[in-house]
Amino acid sequence: MTQLRVIWWEENGVGLIDQTLLPHKEKEIVCETLESLWEAIKSLRVRGAPAIGVSAAYGAVLAAKLCQKSDPKKFAEEVKEGCDYLATSRPTAVNLFWALDRMKRKVDKVSDRPIEEQREALLEEAYAIEHENNEVCERLSIAGAELLGEESQVITHCNAGGLACGNYYGTALGVILKAAEHGKKIGVYVDETRPLLQGSRLTAFELMKAGVEATLICDNMAGHVMKTKDVDAVIFGADRIAANGDTANKIGSYSLAVLAKEHGIPVYVAAPLSTVDFSLGSGDEIPIEERLPEEVAGWQTTRTAPRDVKVYNPAFDVTPAKYITAIICEEGVLHPPFEESLGKLKR
Ligand code: MRU
Repeated sequence: MTQLRVIWWEENGVGLIDQTLLPHKEKEIVCETLESLWEAIKSLRVRGAPAIGVSAAYGAVLAAKLCQKSDPKKFAEEVKEGCDYLATSRPTAVNLFWALDRMKRKVDKVSDRPIEEQREALLEEAYAIEHENNEVCERLSIAGAELLGEESQVITHCNAGGLACGNYYGTALGVILKAAEHGKKIGVYVDETRPLLQGSRLTAFELMKAGVEATLICDNMAGHVMKTKDVDAVIFGADRIAANGDTANKIGSYSLAVLAKEHGIPVYVAAPLSTVDFSLGSGDEIPIEERLPEEVAGWQTTRTAPRDVKVYNPAFDVTPAKYITAIICEEGVLHPPFEESLGKLKR
């Protein structure tokens, strides 16, 4: 739920709001090389599964803009190589690969056309990916809003708002925003989301801008909050959902889901179908990104842990389907068994 410009195409390259600087600085950057876009994805200047997908689609347009080849077939090959390079930026969010594969299929289809036509076709495809992503986020937000009562308290983790999706609603925050737009009184406990604080920096910021009540908590307060406050639902987004419903999302989502089960609180995953990886039978097959130790051993330039301490920094975890009450997607609210409910929507 953001009113900021998150991702756009402009003459010189891919425009982004630098999310590492939010909420205190609203700085726009333009990635004019594939290397700078790769770095922007890797360092989370653009982040969140759908937003990574949209920015990568424009990355393919950038590859086409920069390509000097004059032979149409060789041109298409080089664009695809650019896509393959961008695909190495982060491993977990499947939307990255989904969008790049779609761009590669597009350039394959038009590879016998003149180069300018190929460039135009790629730009149209990227616009289509962005447009469809906006539409599905709004549709799933409407579907999910029905699950929340007239007065609801929810807990969310990480940031699955407009910033994570390149549009106004986002996914998990879209459900909350739509419920609020429908006149429901929603309060949100926002996990700060260590180590990179997407919850406190981005989710609290987006909820406050939208006028939705937000209460910031540290991740390790969630159990106490569930035990002592009336929490009606846990809602988070997804980076990759396996065919059986197992869901990879920001590290800490799994703990939250297990805690929710203990307290009899439903867990809703909100994600577009582009986040479902039907090629994976279970979440065990989802690659989990490991990031630099510095992210855990300190904050920005301040070191908080002893020098040389051993650090483990997985960026995501997998919540087994048995902890998930429903998956909210653009086709509606899906219930277990997810092999069946998701399977019916396989494309
Ligand atoms: O490392 P990040 O910030 O890219 O992780 C993002 C998340 O885990 C989001 O919750 C997920 O991508 C869903 S975004 C709609």
